[in-house]
Amino acid sequence: MRRSRQLFLALTLAFGAAACDEKLSSIAGPTPDLEPTFSSIQANIFELTDSAGRNACTSCHTNVGRNPAGGLNLLHDAAYDQLINVSAIQVPALKRVTPGDPQASYVVHKVEGRAGIVGTRMPRNGPPYMTDGQILILKRWIELGAPRN
Ligand code: HEC
Repeated sequence: MRRSRQLFLALTLAFGAAACDEKLSSIAGPTPDLEPTFSSIQANIFELTDSAGRNACTSCHTNVGRNPAGGLNLLHDAAYDQLINVSAIQVPALKRVTPGDPQASYVVHKVEGRAGIVGTRMPRNGPPYMTDGQILILKRWIELGAPRN
């Protein structure tokens, strides 16, 4: 009896999460393939200038031919290790990404343009900035533990 109740609970949670992420895909806007996974964020946000004209982060956050803007390299071979549990240069009390906690992730503060940031809202040459939907998907990946997936 107890086992089946546990199974029911596990299934409910699994389907609940799937339904939630299905809804996320409907808000991905100018990046319809964007999902809350690292590889999708890398391809659709960090390295892509999207159809709304929001600039690829790697147009500045690259070590090819320059020092990465803000000391942050977001090219695919570097980005994960530059983000996860690494203290932000501008606000060292915050990690760039704190797995499980979007509120404690400086990259979220920068793309939302929050009041406490140093420097400007990202992308620095915006608008256009990331859409609310894109930012929600970024936060969802962080909430899920920011896996290297
Ligand atoms: C046009 C160039 C440019 C683009 C495009 C750009 N950035 Fe930046 N970024 C900068 C510069 C310059 C700084 C440092 C000055 C500032 O913060 O205003 C910076 C700083 C940052 C920092 C702070 C790093 C730290 O450790 O303190 C983060 C996080 C960041 N950018 C994320 C992003 C993300 C995510 C994107 C894409 C959505 C992006 N940036 C797009 C130029 C850019």
